[in-house]
This record gives sequence, structure tokens and C-alpha cells, in this order.
Amino acid sequence: MDEEPCPPYMSRPVPTPCREGDVGAFERIGGDGLGRMGRMHTRHGIIRTPALLPVVNPNLRIVEPSEMWNELEIDALITNAYIIQRSDELRKEAETLGIHKLLNFPGAVMTDSGTFQSYMYGDLEIDPVEIVKFQRTIGVDIGTMLDVFGRPDMSREEIQDAVSLTAERAPAALKAAAEENGQPTMLLNGPIQGGLHTDLRQKSAREMRKHGFTVHPIGGIVPLMEQQRYLELVQIIAAVRPQIPPGRPVHLFGCGHPHLFALGVALGADLFDSAAYAIFARDDRILSPEGTFRLDEIDVWPSLSPTAAQASPKSLRSCAKDEREKVIARINLEVSIHEVSLVRDAVRRKRLWELVEKRMRGHPRLVEAFDYVIDRLQEKDGDQFTSRLVDDARPTRTGGVFWTSEWVRYRPEHLAARRLLRERWCTKNVNSIRVVRGSRPPHRRSLVQLKSEIGDSTALIATPLGLLPASLEDVAPWSQIQAPNWLEDKMESQREIEHELDELGLKSVPWAYLDAPPQTDLEDLPRREKPHEDAPLDEDTWSSVIDRLAFFCGIQGDLLRNIIPNPRGRWSRTGRLTNLLDSDGIHLASMRLNDGGLRLTATGAKLFANAPVSGQRWIGLPRVNIHSDAVPFVREGRSVFHGFVENVEGFLIPGWPCLVIGPNDELVGHGTAESTSVEALGGRRGMVVRVRDGITTDEQS
Ligand code: GUN
Repeated sequence: MDEEPCPPYMSRPVPTPCREGDVGAFERIGGDGLGRMGRMHTRHGIIRTPALLPVVNPNLRIVEPSEMWNELEIDALITNAYIIQRSDELRKEAETLGIHKLLNFPGAVMTDSGTFQSYMYGDLEIDPVEIVKFQRTIGVDIGTMLDVFGRPDMSREEIQDAVSLTAERAPAALKAAAEENGQPTMLLNGPIQGGLHTDLRQKSAREMRKHGFTVHPIGGIVPLMEQQRYLELVQIIAAVRPQIPPGRPVHLFGCGHPHLFALGVALGADLFDSAAYAIFARDDRILSPEGTFRLDEIDVWPSLSPTAAQASPKSLRSCAKDEREKVIARINLEVSIHEVSLVRDAVRRKRLWELVEKRMRGHPRLVEAFDYVIDRLQEKDGDQFTSRLVDDARPTRTGGVFWTSEWVRYRPEHLAARRLLRERWCTKNVNSIRVVRGSRPPHRRSLVQLKSEIGDSTALIATPLGLLPASLEDVAPWSQIQAPNWLEDKMESQREIEHELDELGLKSVPWAYLDAPPQTDLEDLPRREKPHEDAPLDEDTWSSVIDRLAFFCGIQGDLLRNIIPNPRGRWSRTGRLTNLLDSDGIHLASMRLNDGGLRLTATGAKLFANAPVSGQRWIGLPRVNIHSDAVPFVREGRSVFHGFVENVEGFLIPGWPCLVIGPNDELVGHGTAESTSVEALGGRRGMVVRVRDGITTDEQS
């Protein structure tokens, strides 16, 4: 099979093959909770994830694969090896020219093995080894082994057999995919079956992950999607996702409706495939992230796309059936791809869960499925899946929180922030409490006005996300909520407050309400006469910095008083502390004014790296232990990437400070975690720590 340059009409450049050593690697380049953005390396270029692979029926090609590459920016498609093998004409062409020429598509090609056809048309004679060899022979980038489709209506015994037989076939399939006769090893999908049985799904995932598969599709879910049984779909993803190693993408086999993409990615899926764009077009159905619409019902497109912009629904209705089907398929595909781009962008902007909430309003079955996730998130002792959702969330991020529904309360990032507050805010010296109600961000304006009424009590601000200590008044997400006014009244309920105080361990402390002055009465905050001047910290400011260091760095407040005996600071013009300095005026940390977080300096990192830790609660800054090869690079200030991480002590919290430690327990840098501990240890490519300062040997002591 000779590879030639692609024909000149290909306007998008042909992809550059990835380095042979990288082929099959999945690089995580960003994430929002379990949702991630990545790059999958193949011999036909990078697949940017999350990705939608359009299904191409080689006999129909309702949208031309060359158009998918050139005009729709699609990196990879999926076609069916069984259909190609069965047709003499297609098989010969594929064997002589290769799959990429047969389809006229220069990007990555994934193939399915005929499992789905067996499910549709009953048992077919397919040899599990031959079908894998065939995929390799025709130059497929990512093939699929012949798994056994577990239908939801099968008995437990039948599903058990499907899981076992799929697992039994795995070693031979991988052997058949391996390099032979000059043809390189083909990457292989290891599908996970198990029907509706959580334990069998988990078993299947555990069995399949033992082998060297590149991608793990979740199979057997098409009937659920056809019947809109989204609750069961979510239950299956929840059972399977924690079992898959972070370095392997997860594919939802046959999931092609755009209203599911945001949810799928938020629950940890990376790849989707769509035959829906073509199947729905056959009976004049238009896809949109808000649902499905019939062409004869609409006068305006539910989602706009380049092709939709060229014709009105009315004009299309009068078109001939064949032509109409092609145009609708193209519109459906464009809309689906756009939705994947929106999801990818939401991951990049750390606003994925917000997009999911919007999409879930599109269908009662989606509401039901999402409510199930929310219910599970609320359970006190989270299971493996919900713990991962919360652990992987970025608890503080900039940008407002728009309170658009009660779902906002249970966003994993909000649960993570509240949990950290419960764990790390020190309540030792709290003897009496004033609950400030009716305050709107920025809360410091109300606090300044209430100063004398608060007196020696501890002020807690009632926010829609629970009680926020006044010392952390500008910390996101609490400080950035825009909620409807009626919600404030709900927060005033005594029962809510008592429940909150109980959660914070303050049940027996006396408390009383304090009303914030109405917005219109609030005066501007006093400005600082000499901004940026270095001066000693007063006790209130120092306590607030201590609370902040405890929250973000896991260091006990009392210890901080010993480590930094006479703290000093610098302030902005508006009187906000910007820098924490030690008694000699050396800069230790900067306050992040946009989200209330903080950024350590190299000196601060060194100081806190050596801070003693006491007990389980105060685990200090998380430490990423790296391989000696990476040490010189980190010392120069370069970031830490997967593959160089030996171990992680403590929990990496995305977006929060951490230390980088060399093999002799020496501090070599510090920065911001870009992944969680699980990802840091299991990933193959991508960033783990965005290093802020490298620390050289001279600076170490
Ligand atoms: N396409 C849709 N579902 C499946 C499945 O379970 N297995 C395979 N191989 N292909 C599919």
C-alpha cells in the first residue's frame, strides 16, 4: 500500500504524522473536573479531544469525507471494516490503496469491527482475529476488536457471557493488531460491555484495562440512547469511568446526539461518534443541542450553521428527497461539530458544568439523568465516581457564578470549595457568631460598615453557597455569586443557618443575625493614602491572611504565627492587601485580587515547604516528587509534565499552589497544579504543574 501526497484540491494541509514513539499517546492539555481537553497522537495526525468522529458508511458517503477534512475541520472519522471486507469492490480497493485513499480522507481513521452489525442483524460469521488483521492490513489508525454486544434486555447470565467472551478475545486481538509484514502496530479499541449491571460494567472495565488497548469505548449503549434512557446511560458511565486509567481516552460508542456531548464530557468521556447526523436526516429530522426538530415543524433553524444559513427550512421542504437528505445531514453534522467545539471551549474556560446545566433543560429524561448525578453528589459518603468528580474539580476560578437554578449549588467545584472550607477553616477561636445577611459582593463594603456591631464576634456572611467567614470575604466562588434576590431570603432561614453552622463544627456557638446595610447606603471604601508602602499587618489582617494560607496551603494557623513572627504587608490604593512580607520586608506571597487566592514567591514556597505539619487535617502544600531528569528544567522554571512524576504527597488541587520536589527531597520549584494526583500519576503526556519559580541549588537553603 503506497502512501502518496493527497490530491491538490485538499485545501486543509494534510496532517503531519506523529512521531512513532508518540503514536497512541493521549496528552491531556487542560481540564475542567473530569472533562478534559486532549490530543491523541496517531500516524495521521493529532485528534483534538473532545472529538466527534462522524460515521462514514463507505457505500453511501452522504457527506464526503474530503469535505469533512477540508471544510468541517474533522480530525478523525469512523467507518466499518466489516462492511468493507464483505464487499469485493471495497475490500480490493482498501487492500490496494489503503483506507485513507478509499475514503479520500487524510486524517485519522477509526474502524469498527462488525459487532454492531451482529447486534442489528443477528449473529454474523465474523472471525475475531481475521477482522482485526484486516483492519491493520488496510492501514487503519485505530481499529476495534470484535466485542460482544450486551443488549439491555439480555439476562444477567447472557451479559456475563458477553463480558467474559469480550475479555477472552482481547489478547488475540492485540496480537493480531501488532506489527507484521512491515505494517506497523495498529492502535486498538478495547470496548467495555456489561449491559445495565454496574458490577459487570466494572468487571468488564477492569478486565479490559489490563491489556494494551489505546482507547476504551463504552459499548452496548445504542439501545439506551434510542429509547432516551439517559439515566441508565449515566449510571453506566459512572460505573465505568473511574476504572479507566487516565492515559486512555473514553469513547461513548454510538453517542451522536449533540444534546449529550456536554454531559458526556463532564462525566469523563473524550470521544463520540455520530451516525445520527445521517440517520436523522433520512426522516427530515434536524439535530440541535436543545433537542430534535422535524423539518415540517420549523420555519427557522434551531441552530445556525454555514449550510443552514444558505437555505430556509421552507425552501428545503420543497427540495427532492435525495438532495434534501444530503443537505440536512450536512447541517446536522455542522451543528454537532459546533457543539463539540463549544464543549471544548467550555472546558478551556472552566465553565463546563454551566454548559451541562443549560443542555440538561432540553429533555425531561436529561433532567432525570442529571438529577441523579446531583443526588449522588449530595450523598455524604461519595462513591468512587462522585468523589472523582469533586476531587478533580477546580474549587476556585475567576468569573462570576450566575445562579440560574438550584443545580448551581451542587456543581462539583462548589462542593469541592465547601468541603475545603469545612476541612481547613480553623474555628478554634470562634466564641460568638454574627451571621451577616443581605450582603452582596464585594462583601468587604458591608463588613466595614458593620465593624462596630461585629465587635469581637466572628462574622460569617450568608451567601447562596453557604456561610463564608469574613476573613475569606473575597474568595471565589462565594465572593462572585450573582443570584436572584429571593435566594437571599432563603439563606436567612434559621434552619439553613443552623445546618451550616453544624457542618462547620460550630453547632454550640451562640449566634445572631446582623443585617447588611442596603446597597444604596453603602459608602465607597476608604482609599489608602500611601498605597504600595510596606507596613506591619494589624491583627485583623493577619488573621485573615492566616485563614487564607490555611485554606489554600493546608498550613495550620498557629504554626504560621511562629513561622512569620512580625508579618508586614503592602496594600492597593483601595486598601486591599496585595503582598505578604516577612519581618525583614521579604515578599512571601501575593494575594490574587480577582479570586481571593494567593500566589507564593520562591521565598514563601521555601518557608512553607519546611513548615511542620500537624495531624491529618493540616497536610501542608502538596508535593510533586519528580524524576532527576526533569530537575534541571524545573530549576530553570519549566513546567512539570506527565511521565516525570514519581509520586505525589498530599492532594493536588487544580489551580492551587504546590511544591516540586527532587529525588533527594530537595525543593526545586513551586507553582500551580494543573491536574489532580490521579491524573498526575496515571497520565502519559501533558502538564502536571505550571511552575512559577524554579529554585536553584544556591537558593535552596
Ligand atoms: N457501535 C455501537 N455500539 C457498539 C458496541 O458495543 N461495540 C462495537 N464494537 N461497536 C459499537
